[in-house]
Amino acid sequence: MKQELCYWANYTTPTICDKITSLAMNLEEQTPTLGFNSGDQNDSIRRSRVRWVDHNVNPEFGFVNDLMWKGLLQVNLDFYNFNVTKLPPMQFTEYDESYKGEYKMHQDVFWINPGPNHRKITLILQLTDSSEYEGGDLVFHYIDGHPSVEDNKAMKQKGSLIAFPSFIFHQLTPVTRGTRRSLVAWFEGPKFQ
Ligand SMILES: [Fe+2]
Repeated sequence: MKQELCYWANYTTPTICDKITSLAMNLEEQTPTLGFNSGDQNDSIRRSRVRWVDHNVNPEFGFVNDLMWKGLLQVNLDFYNFNVTKLPPMQFTEYDESYKGEYKMHQDVFWINPGPNHRKITLILQLTDSSEYEGGDLVFHYIDGHPSVEDNKAMKQKGSLIAFPSFIFHQLTPVTRGTRRSLVAWFEGPKFQ
């Protein structure tokens, strides 16, 4: 699928997904923040647990860095052609039924931030198969060509990679059974002009 929203079904194998999950579970769990101000938290907007994946700190994640950059380069060359220069630490994200994990509608880009960059392209690697949870649907707003039922099914397969411009409004609906885990990469570049 190749519109504002792109995805590859089976971008990587379930074995690689399990390896990423088991490595990430060794990292310290944190409560996520909202916006570029690291103190902003709001349970009514987002309920999840996150761990930060930084291959500079934990070299065992080098292959994950390569895997995500490979996807970014392909999607950016084929479609977006945004000026992307940087991948900050990635977020291993868990939405669990015990706290009704969800993330209400938002954009990933922080338009007004004091730094030189904007988030340009978001990549999400699906680490849990759709059979292991209910709810937890990624929904996109105000886009042309909404994904079909088949597209949504394919995107929820373990190992699928989803890409979209970070300015697209999206949400994750509440998880009502089980746990959804994913790896989220926000690729940055010089601010939109
Ligand atoms: Fe997001």
